[in-house]
Amino acid sequence: MNNFDLHNPTRILFGKGRIADLGTQIPSDAKVLLLYGGGSAERTGVLAQVRTALGDRSVVEFGGIEPNPRYATALKAVDLIAANGSTYLLAVGGGSVIDATKFIAAAAKYAGDPWDILTSHGGVVAAALPFGTVLTLPATGSEMNPASVITHAEKGAKLPFMSRHCYPVFSILDPELTFTLPPRQIANGVADAFVHVIEQYLTYPVSAAVQDGFAESLLRTLIDLGPKALETPLDYDIRANLMWTATLALNGLIGAGVPQDWASHMIGHEITALNDTDHARTLAVVLPALMQDQRGPKRAKLLQYAANVWNIREGDDEARIDGAITATRDFFHKLGIQTRLGEYDLGAADIDRIVGALQDHGLTALGETKAITPDTARRILQAAL
Ligand code: NZQ
Ligand code: ZN
Repeated sequence: MNNFDLHNPTRILFGKGRIADLGTQIPSDAKVLLLYGGGSAERTGVLAQVRTALGDRSVVEFGGIEPNPRYATALKAVDLIAANGSTYLLAVGGGSVIDATKFIAAAAKYAGDPWDILTSHGGVVAAALPFGTVLTLPATGSEMNPASVITHAEKGAKLPFMSRHCYPVFSILDPELTFTLPPRQIANGVADAFVHVIEQYLTYPVSAAVQDGFAESLLRTLIDLGPKALETPLDYDIRANLMWTATLALNGLIGAGVPQDWASHMIGHEITALNDTDHARTLAVVLPALMQDQRGPKRAKLLQYAANVWNIREGDDEARIDGAITATRDFFHKLGIQTRLGEYDLGAADIDRIVGALQDHGLTALGETKAITPDTARRILQAAL
């Protein structure tokens, strides 16, 4: 196992009715900016619960944060903070609202051009406003990690940044808030969490028995409960387990001390930047093709994945790896998620644009050994047609 530091300062408040605890988490003299998305939080009544729990604090609201949150929208919130002297941010929504809030929290404290935050991958961030989250969509793990992904529509760029200043102070995880999710978003959340685990697991062995065991358990839980959540959407226990799985999938725990491969995410982000395909769906396209292409370097872990996650133990090595890749693709299909570029209106002609964007963003040495070059990415995308 490699050396590691692990420090996660986010406090989790998990369970039914936990929004009522908001009042104990945010200072009573805070000037709150309440951030939310396109209207689901108003429709579902979550915002009403939040407003009640905030009591008589001074609160300004900022709605309209898009899925794949936009840079220009985030800057409007930064202006609002300056105008109102907000001291505390509260994100109510899924990964997009939380990611936007992280960027806004950092940009509000940054004297230079906020675009630097993204081009430096967060390196220039020296401070951020404190913020909490009320999670309504289990998927990204953003509720307990320091990462954010922002889209600049005019530049055709979707760029991640990370900063230790951008952990939420607290996150409220009430599984009942996820009952209103449409099937498409339930499926997206399960698939995204699945790929987060895979990208910290499916690399090469480093004798990290605990991280591997945790990762396999998270994967088996998603495989078991993901389709069940679609069949019986009001089952609290299923939603609660999925919510906690998605958080643990990307809060630093399983990734500590192990090699990581974020190539599917980086290639997937360029697909979303091109045509706004849902984040999770881009991953379902790239991952099976990447497994196929990288079956040599990932051989040992693919065999472990076949045995411990899919219980595939018969046949020679190649047959077991084929079985695991087919099982992965079938799992996405069972969630109602297609796994071919053509099913998202993308063809061979688009591959050069995706690969070109990776090059423009300096993403030319991806994967656990930095071996995924633009040529490799092109081969993977061709296999995903
Ligand atoms: O905008 P509203 O009206 O609120 O509707 C949202 C949105 O349309 C809706 N929704 C959320 N909660 C709901 C609900 N509808 C009904 N009931 C509820 N309880 O769902 C739609 C999608 O929301 P969004 O926040 O965009 O989804 P998700 O949580 O999947 O976030 C995706 C974003 O996170 C980034 C992705 O790239 C993408 O931009 N990621 C962030 C990561 C991180 N910070 O660590 C890692 C991920 O890999 C990912 O890249
Ligand atoms: Zn993701």
